[in-house]
Amino acid sequence: MSQRIGTHDVVVVIGTGGMGLAVARRLAAGRRLLLADWSADGLGAAVSALRGEGHAVEGHTVDVSQRDSVEKLAAAAGAAGRVDAVIHTAGVSPVMATARQIYEVDLLGTAHVVDAFLPAASPGTSLVCVASMAGHFASLPADVERHLATAPTEELLHHKGIDLDGEPALAYVVAKRGNQLRVQAAARAWGGRGARLNTVSPGVISTPMGAQELQGAAGAHIQAMVELSGARRVGTADDIASAAAFLAGPESSFITGNDLLVDGGAVSAQRWNTTPSA
Ligand SMILES: NC(=O)c1ccc[n+]([C@@H]2O[C@H](COP(=O)([O-])OP(=O)(O)OC[C@H]3O[C@@H](n4cnc5c(N)ncnc54)[C@H](OP(=O)(O)O)[C@@H]3O)[C@@H](O)[C@H]2O)c1
Repeated sequence: MSQRIGTHDVVVVIGTGGMGLAVARRLAAGRRLLLADWSADGLGAAVSALRGEGHAVEGHTVDVSQRDSVEKLAAAAGAAGRVDAVIHTAGVSPVMATARQIYEVDLLGTAHVVDAFLPAASPGTSLVCVASMAGHFASLPADVERHLATAPTEELLHHKGIDLDGEPALAYVVAKRGNQLRVQAAARAWGGRGARLNTVSPGVISTPMGAQELQGAAGAHIQAMVELSGARRVGTADDIASAAAFLAGPESSFITGNDLLVDGGAVSAQRWNTTPSA
């Protein structure tokens, strides 16, 4: 079926996993969608599926851990038209990656997206980066927080608080806290272009990544967190798409440099409730 490809209203979705596809389906109708992922096979399948559903979509391979790769994607978005929204969902988790990979993809990758899309931002552009409720469990020294928020991107991985050979689970907590802080610290620069950026921090979400974590070494602990939470269920990718759509749209125009925790109450229960009956 033929499609009308406009030259305006571009939406960029990075990551074609569970959340990326749900976000793309929520935001892409009537816009020009640039869909990006590092796996050419996964990307090709996602582009075909969304095209078949009527979306005007083009695929771009990107490795978010590589600055020049993200810059190429941002340049393509800027050339395609006015960039309305960028939703960054690509990432790796402790069960599937080493600490080094987590820092390179989750921490550095998000910093690359924040940097590279700034020149393509214009009044009304909204960037949403997916962090994690894991970032809410971090309790880091002030100098580590300052480094994560404000260090030049090329120095981001070089700090005594970042152990590239350490525990993946700890790396994930630091990296996701880093996402929240980096976005917070960049809000003024993005505001200079009339643009906004925020993070969404999901709880346990039923995506391929969420399923792998539930089957991994920390699975019983994660399941217990879900049972203790206010919602008493895992989240869906659509729950995250709803939050991303809110932050990408005009109803959140006074919200920037912030984090939206979408966790079914898991973090609050960890703090204030100790047993399922409490
Ligand atoms: N699911 C959860 O329970 C949960 C909870 C909290 C936070 N999060 C965060 O939410 C985000 C999305 O997670 P998800 O559940 O949608 O995961 P997912 O289904 O595994 O999707 C992640 C996508 O990112 C891609 N990717 C990985 N490394 C990349 C790189 N260097 N460059 C470009 N693309 C890359 C993956 O490709 P491949 O599959 O080919 O590797 C995959 O398509 C992640 O940042 C994750 O940390 C998830």
